[in-house]
Amino acid sequence: MPITREEEKVLDEHFLANSYVEGFTASQSDAALFEYFTGTPSQDLPSLQRWFRHIASFDKDRTTFPGSRRNPLEIFINGRKITVMADSTAVEQSAALEQFSTAEAQVDEDIVDPWNVQASSSKGIDYDKLIDRFGSSRIDATLLERFEKVTGRKPHHFLRRGIFFSHRDMHRILNLVEAGKKFFLYTGRGPSSEAMHVGHLIPFIMTKWLQDVFDVPLVVQLTDDEKYLWKDLKLEQCNKLAYENSKDIVAMGFDINKTFIFSDIDFIEGSGEFYRNVLKVQKHVTFNQVKGIFGFDESSNIGKIMFPAIQAAPSFSSSFPFIFKGKKDVPCLIPCAIDQDPYFRMTRDVAPRIGLQKPALLHSTFFPALAGASTKMSASDENSSIFLTDTANQIKKKINKYAFSGGRDTIEEHREKGGDCEVDVSYMYLTFFLEDDEKLEEIRQQYSTGNMLTGELKAELIKILQALVAEHQARRKEVTEDLVKEYMKPRPLNF
Ligand code: TYM
Repeated sequence: MPITREEEKVLDEHFLANSYVEGFTASQSDAALFEYFTGTPSQDLPSLQRWFRHIASFDKDRTTFPGSRRNPLEIFINGRKITVMADSTAVEQSAALEQFSTAEAQVDEDIVDPWNVQASSSKGIDYDKLIDRFGSSRIDATLLERFEKVTGRKPHHFLRRGIFFSHRDMHRILNLVEAGKKFFLYTGRGPSSEAMHVGHLIPFIMTKWLQDVFDVPLVVQLTDDEKYLWKDLKLEQCNKLAYENSKDIVAMGFDINKTFIFSDIDFIEGSGEFYRNVLKVQKHVTFNQVKGIFGFDESSNIGKIMFPAIQAAPSFSSSFPFIFKGKKDVPCLIPCAIDQDPYFRMTRDVAPRIGLQKPALLHSTFFPALAGASTKMSASDENSSIFLTDTANQIKKKINKYAFSGGRDTIEEHREKGGDCEVDVSYMYLTFFLEDDEKLEEIRQQYSTGNMLTGELKAELIKILQALVAEHQARRKEVTEDLVKEYMKPRPLNF
């Protein structure tokens, strides 16, 4: 029997607060329920629709979900029971749906996790598919309008241009703000190299803007422990890099009265409440689950297996009693690139089971590598990146030599056919850093109609990047050891 409209509404309510039918990974119960739908649920049931698209995106992999199918499948939601019976209609529907799901949600080949980002196409990651695959929500016009209404500020160009493209629970954060309540921001950096690259700035620029607009506290986690566990680096080296990177973060201009930056290695040993939350998360996640979420296997060192609990803990205000004066229920918003989402899917699923609030998230796309949008800018490849330590001349050389061009082979051909902004890395970089919407649109038109040549487009970008990096370097020069210590002192924050 197909699902009734009433039942769909109840399910929508369920999926507002839960990622799956039960537990915190997709199971055979999700696969069974999925088969009862004859098509995508309607738009007025956004949470059910998000769940449906997410489960559809697994395509044939649905058969490998853990657990066994129950018949009948009974789902209890807020005291109401939905009973789904397997019958012959369901089997027919299931065959039809198999076709539907293959057509509508082909398995995507893009790889996106905290350690690998590789797109299958030169145009880059298919972010729409990623939203379905990860089960998050699009940052759409409705959210942006609400954002403007609640804050009285035009949304940041990262939001307007879809650079931040996905979210979890952002409406809940806006509801709080409307009700005059506060939340806190949490973001981080894994210090694996002395020099951060321009891509690393993206979440920090967004975080700074959010701190200014909402006037809220911020915690910044430096996961020097994570880098020790994953990279071939000495423990003390990672800890030193955390302090080096913290200078770049301080240089972003975060409000000193509202910002706490910490190195895991130094902070955890002295912090009872933080470690208590780490332990609670650890107790509620099995090896099978981290295997599924992060791809760990029997040869992964055991530090890696427990690390996700450490990245989860700062999402809870109770981890920082000195900041929040003991308040355990201050909601959290995490700006990050989408590669970090696996950590927070796990966190959100565990949170209610340990009596804590799920963090909300804002996800950004990746600032692409110089060589093209199929990978993200990465610190481990010199020629793929513009570093915050690069000189004006290095920036110019790298852009001119390595930035993948959507221009044509000859000037004549370019004038005739125009450049391709969809694959042109210099143009993509301008969408991140050229704030003036009109100027950007003019460049797009001029370049794609062939009036502007690749060299001219690159010259525009070089000017902007040289200024951005030089300004950052000047601010960083002003950051003293004492100033960093101030930011890193556990203390109450203005709240
Ligand atoms: P890390 O050091 O790899 O990256 C730091 C932040 O930068 C984002 N990022 C990028 N954003 C846009 N374009 C790129 N090319 C790009 N490369 C990296 C990352 O998504 C991240 O937001 N485990 C984390 C540290 C961490 C963290 C957090 C990050 C701990 N807690 C909470 C975000 C939120 C890491 O190694 O990040």
